[in-house]
Amino acid sequence: FLLGGVLYAQPTVRVNNEKTTVESLPDLLTLKHGEPVNSPEVWERLKRPELLHLFKNEVYGMVPDGDPIPSSIEVIEESDAAFNNKAHRIQFALDFKKGHRNLRVHILLYLPKDVFNPPVFLGYNFYGNHTVVHDDNVLVSDSWVRNNETLDVYNHKANQKSRGKRSYRWPVDKILQEGFGIATVYYGDIDPDRNDFTDGIHPFFYKEGQDEPGLNEWGSLTAWAWGLSRILDCLKGYEATADSKYILFGHSRLGKTVLWASALDQRFDMVIANNSGCGGAALFRRKNGETIQLINNRFPHWFSKSFKKYNDKEAMLPLDQHMLIALNAPRPVYIASAIKDKWADPEGEYLSAYYASPVYELYNKRGLSDRNFPDVNKPIHQTIGYHVRSGKHDVTAYDWKQFMIFAKGHLND
Ligand code: GCU
Repeated sequence: FLLGGVLYAQPTVRVNNEKTTVESLPDLLTLKHGEPVNSPEVWERLKRPELLHLFKNEVYGMVPDGDPIPSSIEVIEESDAAFNNKAHRIQFALDFKKGHRNLRVHILLYLPKDVFNPPVFLGYNFYGNHTVVHDDNVLVSDSWVRNNETLDVYNHKANQKSRGKRSYRWPVDKILQEGFGIATVYYGDIDPDRNDFTDGIHPFFYKEGQDEPGLNEWGSLTAWAWGLSRILDCLKGYEATADSKYILFGHSRLGKTVLWASALDQRFDMVIANNSGCGGAALFRRKNGETIQLINNRFPHWFSKSFKKYNDKEAMLPLDQHMLIALNAPRPVYIASAIKDKWADPEGEYLSAYYASPVYELYNKRGLSDRNFPDVNKPIHQTIGYHVRSGKHDVTAYDWKQFMIFAKGHLND
């Protein structure tokens, strides 16, 4: 079909190489009663809420209604001598309180010294803020952590030995040199990543007698997404970052999280999802690599309970992940894949971004215009950006180089 002068191939998807079943993707530019979505106004007023409702009810689950959870924010450590005197380091404690429950979230923020209100990359980390940098002053979280021999994590407790062990994924020095700030939080501070709904943020929202989320209430992905919005509240309330632009970044399960977080909260200016795969950028209907059934069985706590009914029933879904990407329009979104990361279905990640493009065209922004999967290490930097790099599931220097080029190129979009 033709839209804004660009020809889009029919939204059909080939599944697997040999067995080419072709199934239609639900159409982004038709309302549920059949009327066309032909302007940003119709998209925003009618289609966007329709899709958000579907994602909340059928996939990730919604945050329960109720009064806001009382919270407080405090700077508990700061220094202007970080990174050889080149950066400020600020550590916040964000505390949630209800009855005798208390949840402490540590936010680690570095800001380049010579830039006021710099654009800030914001992303969760997997093993604690202290693993992200070689900096002895970074506080170690008390939250439950997944055991990991290479990181020296045993008994689910973070400790000094893993300091800096994930720094290869976080080129903080370079990020600061390029004029960006960077904020990171251990995702388990918001909700430990295990199938247990008695810990983390969920219990703060339970009604009397409730001990787990209801059918269409939030799993961990929505909890982490919600957490990012609370972290944003905090950074926006801090003078040195109050007017910053925010670029959400997430890898893998946290890539799924950021796409959903920025779909929910339009205060995020840009989003980058790295190797986000099933439940992130990849189209469910391709059933290539990880599938709904596989992900729900292995990670029963990530999505809402209502999502389980789609196990092995992809064709029944009233949505697919091109719609999740489109919920970010017209803000810049970057999808990154790795060619050996078959589990995340790189081509499915690309096609999802491609099929989200018509919504960007409504705003006269450029999405992806070629249905063919691009060559390896040939990034595309339109308002929707994409690359598939060589190598495996990971975050590399190449990825960050592209993220920074993309972010700089689109800061004033
Ligand atoms: C598993 C899971 C993926 C996820 C990944 C990660 O491989 O199946 O869906 O993206 O973990 O978060 O590292």
